Amino acid sequence: MSQRTLVLLKPDAVQRGLVGEIIGRIERKAGWTISALELRTLDRAVLEQHYAEHVGRDFYEPLVTFMSSGPVVSLVVEGERVIEGVRQLAGPTDPIKAPSGSIRGDFGTITRENLIHASDSEESAEREIKIFFPGLS
Ligand code: CMP
Repeated sequence: MSQRTLVLLKPDAVQRGLVGEIIGRIERKAGWTISALELRTLDRAVLEQHYAEHVGRDFYEPLVTFMSSGPVVSLVVEGERVIEGVRQLAGPTDPIKAPSGSIRGDFGTITRENLIHASDSEESAEREIKIFFPGLS
């Protein structure tokens, strides 16, 4: 089942020079392709849309501050079961609980600064792709 998903390499990943490492892991999965890619610093309006479901949580404001603290790489990845697959590559939200071999498990320690975001469902993917790549059909 071919799908597409929205992936963000967060400011910690860009600042630490892990973009190539993370995108390399995605590129090495058979048949997955990158169909859009951009480096930019996100403004609050975009982040409020993207993280709308988290408004009011105690981690929301620090998350928005962190996510706007430096450039982010946003990309759309397409391919077989890519939604579940990228989340598997990423590992669980808390990097200390994430297994070795996953992106968060290998490189992260802090839940907020967990290197990568990946859409969690087809509905989320379509909503998020519209936010980050409004021109993409
Ligand atoms: P992400 O996949 O982008 O979705 C929501 C983000 O909020 C999550 O990754 C983390 O960066 C952050 N987050 C989620 N839970 C917590 C938490 N308990 N404390 C701090 N940050 C969190």
